[in-house]
Amino acid sequence: MISTNYLVIGSGVAGLTFSIKIAEKFPDRNVVIVTKSDEEESNTKYAQGGVAVVLDSETDSFKKHIEDTLIAGDGLCDESVVEMVIKEGPKRLEELILWGTNFDLNPSGNLDLGKEGGHSEYRVVHHKDITGYEIERALLKRVHQLKNITILPNHFAIDLITKHQVKQIEDKELSCFGAYVLDQKTGHVYTVKADNTLLASGGIGCVYGHTTNPIIATGDGVAMAYRAKAKIKDMEFIQFHPTALYEEKGESSFLISEAVRGFGAYLRNKEGYRFMPDYDKRAELASRDIVSQSIDDQLKKTGDSHVFLDCTHLDIKAFKNHFPNIYEKCLEHHIDIEKDWIPVVPASHYLCGGIVVDKDGKTSISNLFACGECSRTGLHGANRLASNSLLEALVYAHNIFKYHSEHDDSLPKIEIPDWNDEGTIIPKEHILIQHNLKQLQALMRDYVGIVRSDKRLKSAIKHLDLIYNEVEELYKESKISTSLCELRNMINVAHLIINQSLERTENKGGYYNIDNIK
Ligand code: FAD
Ligand code: SIN
Repeated sequence: MISTNYLVIGSGVAGLTFSIKIAEKFPDRNVVIVTKSDEEESNTKYAQGGVAVVLDSETDSFKKHIEDTLIAGDGLCDESVVEMVIKEGPKRLEELILWGTNFDLNPSGNLDLGKEGGHSEYRVVHHKDITGYEIERALLKRVHQLKNITILPNHFAIDLITKHQVKQIEDKELSCFGAYVLDQKTGHVYTVKADNTLLASGGIGCVYGHTTNPIIATGDGVAMAYRAKAKIKDMEFIQFHPTALYEEKGESSFLISEAVRGFGAYLRNKEGYRFMPDYDKRAELASRDIVSQSIDDQLKKTGDSHVFLDCTHLDIKAFKNHFPNIYEKCLEHHIDIEKDWIPVVPASHYLCGGIVVDKDGKTSISNLFACGECSRTGLHGANRLASNSLLEALVYAHNIFKYHSEHDDSLPKIEIPDWNDEGTIIPKEHILIQHNLKQLQALMRDYVGIVRSDKRLKSAIKHLDLIYNEVEELYKESKISTSLCELRNMINVAHLIINQSLERTENKGGYYNIDNIK
């Protein structure tokens, strides 16, 4: 048994920022961060474009950033949340810089501002094209300086401890008492008892197989919260990034940042035709939902597998300076961006919905908070504006910290039983996990992708039920393993995406169903 004031699940920007703030302010309180891979592995580490913040008061304003966010969200954002997040941005950025994050400067010594789709102004602060890597580096450095934070890599949170998971718990309300955590090196399952638990477990990209996300993005936090009966919303709004590098056999996809289009790159089909002006007057800089849906339309019309990003007309020296990582990655694939177009295709990228939280990051379960990509704050509505995600995580980590500085929510005193795996065996049929995972990913890609239909969604539910039943049976008889838990979680997430898609009768932002066209 481990006992702590704060259990933080996840070591991306959301989990680390909250941990630093609470540990700095309250040296007598302790924080345990569990994270299922190496401590830096996260979606955060791969963020390229940067953080959207209003800094240049001559050209930009909060009002403009608010308007851009609302337009991208297609009428479904919570306006008061949008205003709060955007106005907090500059303060939260200052803090990041104070903790040692380096952002690029322009020749006049001010922060260099990039532009991305859906933004009417230059407002994206960045560190070359590896902004997330730099943020993660600086935050982890600060975490290691704080003695009241313990970070446990290779520790996998299996389930939250609530009355729904543990029958012996008597709790008049619905509260969270911590989580069961698997030490992936020893196979031991710990009971981590916590006064407060923060889900900061990131995204769900792997549910689709073809994704810009790393392999940790299996929606564990959303699935755990769902099983604990927390409110989950807007799961139909999966954001597909328009420009993942196309690889014939590739599953995981390297991202070609939207900032490259902000830098002036054009999208062309195989014939060389620049098609985006036909779809939106902002052309390549329309918001992501529109660009992805337009590419999908082109691919369906032409029967091609990908389109191209053309950078050949750009200042290549300046390009290399801003995007050294992308430039090198292209060269590795024998693409010289000075002469060659980059083959690109949309890939699943970001979850706009998730665990419903209020402005303090509180979920519908007492003493359970959620922050970052696993949460649904109301900022993104039907489609997230580029580079608003890191911003959201920073602002909400601060809000949750502030809440804890002002409140001390007590929990009923209860006995928590240890993890019970009586009667389970070490699974010998790994093929069942791999096969069902492949089936799930193919199902989501083919039936629940950028363009959906009622027929495909209904059929997807039937197929998913078969996978669900087989995997639940396996789960009940097996000793716990990360791959089995992740598969179970992805099935839960897929179920939420499909069902919430079927409930949506109007196309909005990133949600497009051919049966909703009136
Ligand atoms: P993450 O950074 O994903 O961290 C989640 C953590 O939880 C990880 O440490 C993971 O290992 C851990 N975890 C998950 N499940 C468990 C479990 N069961 N037990 C224990 N630990 C667990 N956004 C922007 O604003 N600007 C950008 O430029 C940008 N570029 C992007 C580029 C790419 C390629 C990708 C994939 C995303 C990008 N995004 C960008 C989105 C943004 O990076 C993420 O939304 C954000 O970093 C999420 O932060 P997070 O802390 O919520 O989650
Ligand atoms: C990108 O750099 O294109 C990703 C930005 C984001 O997801 O916000």
